[in-house]
Amino acid sequence: MAQQPEGPTREQLEAQRPEEFWESLYATYREGGGAWGARVNPVLAEVAQGLEAGTALDLACGAGGDTVWLARRGWRVTAADISPTAVGQLLRTARAEGLGDLVTAECHDLAHSFPAGTFDLVSAQYFHTPYALPRAAVLRTAARALLPGGRLLVVDHGSRAPWSWKLDPEIQAQTPEQVYADLGLPADGWRVERAERRARQATGPGGQTATVTDHVLLVRRAED
Ligand SMILES: C[S@@+](CC[C@H](N)C(=O)[O-])C[C@H]1O[C@@H](n2cnc3c(N)ncnc32)[C@H](O)[C@@H]1O
Repeated sequence: MAQQPEGPTREQLEAQRPEEFWESLYATYREGGGAWGARVNPVLAEVAQGLEAGTALDLACGAGGDTVWLARRGWRVTAADISPTAVGQLLRTARAEGLGDLVTAECHDLAHSFPAGTFDLVSAQYFHTPYALPRAAVLRTAARALLPGGRLLVVDHGSRAPWSWKLDPEIQAQTPEQVYADLGLPADGWRVERAERRARQATGPGGQTATVTDHVLLVRRAED
């Protein structure tokens, strides 16, 4: 099995702010292709294809594969990421497909600011970073941004492909149960629709494949 690449060192991380780190990665990908989030994520597609189109928020959207997929199906989508290059790439793709009117893309460091609005669906797909991040607080804000009947979908890496970074062991993937507990939602008025581990066939930059595990949480706010 291939060795995991080391990924960024602690020294490299300390030398850059989070926005510089992610921006430099997306700028590299802009030259070489294959940015994070360029294709729709399978769980998002599976969940959203059963829903009526409404308003959606794509948190840490990357290059916008999920946002564009939703907009193609009539969703009005707000997308947010810390990287201006990722946000710019998303906007170019949406406009090239004639979807510009359905997509609002904004740069946010979600540790410090959050998009305005209320939504039928909020999606956070692989919202991971090697930097300190108040992720639970961001996801609690996301839950509060749901309209009655709206859903929050959180998909995390439960395991990593051999070609992914070997991350600091302190950065552990949370289980769906932990993510749910951290949301601190009252039992009354919220329902867990999915809390599961799912195997997925991942394809690496060289076309290599591996089976990885995703952690999936889908919660729904009750209708008023
Ligand atoms: C692993 S990528 C996932 C991207 C995309 N959602 C996907 O499914 O491929 C993590 C994303 O989180 C973004 N990100 C990291 N820290 C962030 C922060 N503090 N605020 C907003 N976005 C952040 C990165 O720029 C990157 O696009």
